[in-house]
Amino acid sequence: MAKKIIAGNWKMNPATAREAEKIFSGIKKIKINNKVETVVCPPAIYLPLLKKITTGIKINLGVQDCSVAEGGAYTGQISASMIKSLGAKDVIIGHSERRALGESDEVLNQKVKIALKNGLRVIFCVGEQTRDERGDYLSAIKQQLETGLDKIGKNLSGKLVIAYEPVWAIGANATGVDSPDSFLQSSLFIKKVMSGLIGAKEAKALPILYGGSANAKNAEGFLTVGQADGLLVGRASLDPKQFGEIINIAGNVKEE
Ligand code: PGA
Repeated sequence: MAKKIIAGNWKMNPATAREAEKIFSGIKKIKINNKVETVVCPPAIYLPLLKKITTGIKINLGVQDCSVAEGGAYTGQISASMIKSLGAKDVIIGHSERRALGESDEVLNQKVKIALKNGLRVIFCVGEQTRDERGDYLSAIKQQLETGLDKIGKNLSGKLVIAYEPVWAIGANATGVDSPDSFLQSSLFIKKVMSGLIGAKEAKALPILYGGSANAKNAEGFLTVGQADGLLVGRASLDPKQFGEIINIAGNVKEE
């Protein structure tokens, strides 16, 4: 069975490098068995600091965005090759908080391509703003996948992960959490769309994570009933105790 992926998205937290070191030191102490792959995505500016303390431990580092360009006159941006050179392995692309800043599916597609080209694994986020009874939200997800992941090539095994994050379930202002059953439906839908893009075999093997108020209480449901291949964890990833519980749950999910 493939490893469950537990990825922490720290967003623009914590406020100081010292605190980042403290949280990461807590996460370092978590016992991680070989059924789980753990990724921590801090603000990119903390990467060198945290990289120094990852030696010998089983935690990968990632970032939350990358530039569409390789380099040059792009004030304030960080390129995929810079990220790679600092030892990060993953990049989150298409998070709803970046989409809210105006990143279009087309821009995200460029980011995905440049990240893959530079050898980063992409955690591509999709998710609807609101949920409707008729299932129209599925067409929003389809659009995000078809444009954001257009012509990204094949042989993506180990290079692409999809995180399904309904926007209404994300963050402190979430109006709810998805249910494992409903996540499973969305995840099957994502695989169906992806099979049209990258082929049925590759789509079947593609890891689909759940994100949006994932925590130690609901993790098990998503990983068992929901058959999630992992979780993208925001707030709870800043709390080493709770993040540790989630990792522990993922490491003890019974094989089907
Ligand atoms: P949350 O964030 O777990 O705090 O809801 C998840 C995410 O935005 O990736």
